[in-house]
Amino acid sequence: MSRITELRCRACATSAPVGPSYVCVRCFGPLEVVYDDDLIRATISREQIGARPAGIWRYHELLPVDVPPERGLPVGSTPLQRAVRLGERLGIERLWLKNDSLNPTLSFKDRVVAVAAARAQEFGFDTLACASTGNLAGAVAAAAGVLGLPSYVFVPADIEPAKICQALAFGARLVPVDGTYDEINRLSIEVADELGWAFVNVNLRPYYAEGSKTLAYEVAEQLGWRLPDVVVVPIASGSLYTKVAKGFDELVRFGLVEAHPVRFIGAQPEGCAPVADAFRDGLEHPVPIEKPRTLVKSLAIGSPADGASALALARRSGGSIEAVSDGATRAAMRLTAENEGIFTETAGGCTIAALAQARANGLIRADDEVVALLTGNGLKTPEALDSSGSAARDEDEPLLETGPVPAARRIKPTFAAVEGWLASDRRRKPVPSADPLQSPLSVG
Ligand SMILES: Cc1ncc(COP(=O)(O)O)c(C=O)c1O
Ligand SMILES: [Zn+2]
Repeated sequence: MSRITELRCRACATSAPVGPSYVCVRCFGPLEVVYDDDLIRATISREQIGARPAGIWRYHELLPVDVPPERGLPVGSTPLQRAVRLGERLGIERLWLKNDSLNPTLSFKDRVVAVAAARAQEFGFDTLACASTGNLAGAVAAAAGVLGLPSYVFVPADIEPAKICQALAFGARLVPVDGTYDEINRLSIEVADELGWAFVNVNLRPYYAEGSKTLAYEVAEQLGWRLPDVVVVPIASGSLYTKVAKGFDELVRFGLVEAHPVRFIGAQPEGCAPVADAFRDGLEHPVPIEKPRTLVKSLAIGSPADGASALALARRSGGSIEAVSDGATRAAMRLTAENEGIFTETAGGCTIAALAQARANGLIRADDEVVALLTGNGLKTPEALDSSGSAARDEDEPLLETGPVPAARRIKPTFAAVEGWLASDRRRKPVPSADPLQSPLSVG
């Protein structure tokens, strides 16, 4: 008797056999994995999970593979860090940061890829592929390498160089496409059909998406098997956002946590915010954005597959979906790095900026327990903070550097040179005070 009983259409509930399919034959709606709840309830417990090794497979009963894989990267069990200083800056007494930039390829995409790759092997695929906004490419490339499979990663040609470098380092064939993510996604559907590759986020999407639930399981377990009042989640396709909610619901259904209302705040960049715009305008479906224009390339999906589900979740949970400027994202990246020691990528900056905005407009209260998901690493998007990266740069903001330090700025290895350097540094920039700023994310 298998735990995984069928696939089912989220829109019309038509059932489909368990296989590498992803759209409903009746209405073209998205398919989701259905489990045998009774079987899971009879076998799962906090004690059993707690006794297992770290990583996402400690929750394997709740994941859509028949058997936990023997090979694969060590994914998950990332820290949930109490953010005292950032919390003070934002006026939140209990703030937690889920630092998912510490996964093997430095983003939460390792979770979804681990699940999709395991399932792809169960289905007998011999090639992994993906349509990516950047992070997925590295995750697929690394996972394929560890399994000894070839990988093909399709990315917009203008993504961050570090993300291209990473995917190539892991041995992927990188296909840079002169187009948007949405164009690449459409292309991938065709390639998957023609060549029979396992595109983790296309023909294996029902399984892939389930991997995001592990973030919810970990957050609840790390809080001592409790749910928070608010979670703040970045949105590209909306899959992560909706699957975190599904993960919490399952924990309640299987008696692992007490029921507790959670408000879901979504984060999108203004230059590509189809879900946030639809939320503001009271629409049920996002209006696609043709040409994303944002520094937050990892979230630049103009036609989000799970946009309607994300909107419904924001509304029924009493949350919201916030659109934030690139300037606010950059300020939030620096605020998080300087106060919490986490250098998060643009998606994380966008998430903290959305959190600040939701706090400022009263959606989040001072005494709420809040968890923000930091899903990627800042070393992948350094140009967001340097002089070359953004037209949205604030002129008076000190720049970070990503290239070699110019000869004129280097000093000799002597104490006199240090004294000279300190004097000129003080002229350039006052030493920061410990006082919280009035409005930490205001940007010019
Ligand atoms: C760092 C990061 N965070 C969040 C997301 C959002 O993922 P989703 O498509 O599940 O909304 C992405 C997607 O690429 C990402 O790269
Ligand atoms: Zn259907």
